Amino acid sequence: MGADTSRHSKKIPLWAAAAVVGGLLLLAAVFAMNLLGDGPARDSIEKLSPAYADTATVRKVRTVMTFDGAPCMSCHEGVDPLQGDPKEKGVFHEKIELKHGRNQHCFNCHNRKQPADFSDFDGSPIKLANIEMLCAKCHGTIYRDWNNGSHGRRSGYWDKAKGGFQPTVCIACHNPHWPVFKPLQAAPAPHVNPRTRAKSAHADHGGHD
Ligand code: HEC
Ligand code: HEC
Ligand code: HEC
Ligand code: HEC
Repeated sequence: MGADTSRHSKKIPLWAAAAVVGGLLLLAAVFAMNLLGDGPARDSIEKLSPAYADTATVRKVRTVMTFDGAPCMSCHEGVDPLQGDPKEKGVFHEKIELKHGRNQHCFNCHNRKQPADFSDFDGSPIKLANIEMLCAKCHGTIYRDWNNGSHGRRSGYWDKAKGGFQPTVCIACHNPHWPVFKPLQAAPAPHVNPRTRAKSAHADHGGHD
């Protein structure tokens, strides 16, 4: 039906083709001989401390409850807990600095009857292996987020057949006695190409020196 094919069959004139090929050859020569030079030298890049690439969590999670190498039971078995506020009395475990907001009592967390365990609302034991259930007692929304993978860190596989998720337990990051993080050292600023830096210095008008 009368399609106009003449457009497609138009020939490119020989001189134009030659000019394009010649131009490209010329450019190749310019680059090969490095006629334009190298541009400004890059800043040397300092080696990052390997600490910044370390994927380990802040704390190493203990698997047994010991104090100075001795199991809790070795001292606490058959001994009644102190009456009143053990923290105020400051006996024996004084190197534990309890800075957990208004949560100021050892037995809010530790179990009166089973020293190596922790305590649920009704006094029933929570094991160290399920320590997130202790935190969940008072931090329900964070626990929910953690369970859904939006607080803390997950590793492992999406694919359940390959083993599924590996959650990171609360106390791998938070010290239970002092859960707020101490200030961290900031990593050095990113490396900036001198050309980019020159441009952005123009853009924000005010120089620093
Ligand atoms: C070497 C002995 C020893 C070991 C081991 C030990 N404790 Fe204690 N702990 C004490 C003494 C002594 C006190 C002072 C109060 C007392 O006599 O009960 C105390 C006090 C406490 C208190 C304050 C409440 C209380 O009972 O008066 C808690 C909580 C506690 N210990 C937890 C632990 C936990 C958890 C472990 C194991 C990780 C542990 N302790 C291991 C000797 C020990
Ligand atoms: C917020 C809950 C919480 C409170 C409150 C708390 N602890 Fe603990 N404590 C833990 C958990 C969880 C562990 C074990 C995990 C760890 O050490 O990483 C632990 C570990 C310990 C240990 C063994 C490890 C160590 O650091 O020597 C001792 C002893 C101990 N607590 C004593 C106390 C005493 C005494 C008090 C009160 C002054 C207290 N805790 C208050 C949660 C708590
Ligand atoms: C008995 C209740 C209780 C338990 C159990 C408990 N917490 Fe807390 N937690 C508190 C209270 C109360 C505060 C202080 C909130 C405030 O001062 O605004 C707090 C504060 C914190 C904070 C600091 C929040 C902030 O931004 O200041 C973190 C982090 C934290 N807890 C983590 C944990 C972890 C991890 C566990 C489990 C090992 C745990 N908590 C167990 C009651 C609890
Ligand atoms: C991989 C590390 C990691 C794990 C695991 C983790 N947290 Fe946190 N958590 C953080 C960081 C980082 C913050 C932010 C701290 C800050 O802003 O100073 C935080 C903040 C919090 C806060 C304060 C929240 C607020 O809104 O102010 C609470 C409470 C808390 N975490 C509890 C928990 C509990 C409970 C668990 C386990 C169920 C847990 N965290 C597991 C790293 C972790």
